[in-house]
Amino acid sequence: MQSTPAGRTLDVEDLTVRYGQALAVDGVTLAIEPGEVVALLGPSGCGKTTLLRVIAGFVRQAAGRVRVDGAAIDHLPANQRNIGIVFQNYALFPHMTVAENVAYGLRARGMRGSEVQARISRFLDVVQLGGFRERLPRQLSGGQQQRVALARALAVEPSILLLDEPFAALDRNLRLDMQIEVKRLQRTLGLTTILVTHDQDEAMSVADRIAVMNKGRVEQFDTPVAIYDRPQTLFVNGFIGTTNLMNGKVSAREGGTATVALDAGATLRLPASADFGLGAPVLISVRPEQLALSSVPGPDAWKIVPGLSLPIGAQLVHEARTADGASLKIVEPRRTTPSDTARIYCTLAADARPTLFPRST
Ligand SMILES: Nc1ncnc2c1ncn2[C@@H]1O[C@H](COP(=O)(O)OP(=O)(O)OP(=O)(O)O)[C@@H](O)[C@H]1O
Ligand SMILES: [Mg+2]
Repeated sequence: MQSTPAGRTLDVEDLTVRYGQALAVDGVTLAIEPGEVVALLGPSGCGKTTLLRVIAGFVRQAAGRVRVDGAAIDHLPANQRNIGIVFQNYALFPHMTVAENVAYGLRARGMRGSEVQARISRFLDVVQLGGFRERLPRQLSGGQQQRVALARALAVEPSILLLDEPFAALDRNLRLDMQIEVKRLQRTLGLTTILVTHDQDEAMSVADRIAVMNKGRVEQFDTPVAIYDRPQTLFVNGFIGTTNLMNGKVSAREGGTATVALDAGATLRLPASADFGLGAPVLISVRPEQLALSSVPGPDAWKIVPGLSLPIGAQLVHEARTADGASLKIVEPRRTTPSDTARIYCTLAADARPTLFPRST
């Protein structure tokens, strides 16, 4: 390994991008730490690729700034930004061999001879394509092309790496290998990295922080655990993981706690900010693993009509319907002997952390 460059900070400040009249990116601000891996998650068309293209210098913003280590880079052309990018469609040069593709950025930076050859070998080994130097892109599978694109981006030893769904065409095992490899390289090289992905598990496992985007805006920028446990908006809540939503109303308030009367017919005492006043209509979001089935009635248990139960790996997923018609999913560990008591009540599990959202009526 060569010397380890210090990671760079990457600051995106109030960035706005328009295509004609349409807003593709709408006032995005992200402060990314040196050597940090940030995953960008969001539905198709929310502006993820556009954001990367502005950072890399391929699209010009209507407003806002991009700074690396505090200095604005907006005036620099793409090839002077020292940013490696792997495009969503990998965009290899079709008439060049694998080795020539990897060497492209090196030659553009004036590197020649044995140094170029050494980098080609090193980074093709990293992506496990050492034997493919002389192939043309059309002689490779989609996943292999993706790996060449990754080698090409890494070969210039950028200080910032932008990856636009780099593993989408890979099968599961290779994907895991590449995730580990990217994480390792990113650590060794101190690369500040943004990874666009549609895969929540990938975002949760690879990223230090996740930015969830919706309609050109960042709705939450937080650690994976905080995004999962404390989603700040209904959109983030519904986009990350599986969740149950139930209607209710605040029936009493006491300090930081609200008593919520569920439309499904139980009362729950939950931590709630002062925003949730007496009488406020609320939505309660609970993850499936935070609900429990019970055969015992009680004030904090609501009646359900059990539906299908599906074994999924080590878990059992139960479907159920509440008295007010909400459909619930409840997950519990799969037991060898199923209980034969009629479990027609649902409660919060002991460690449940439901999230309250305001509900418009
Ligand atoms: N060159 C372009 N001209 C006009 N509109 C564009 C252009 N590129 C993207 N858009 C529009 O800008 C919006 C954001 O596109 P973008 O490619 O950034 O989305 P994305 O989040 O990367 O989506 P996906 O997950 O499907 O890749 C979309 O509505 C898209 O149609
Ligand atoms: Mg995209």
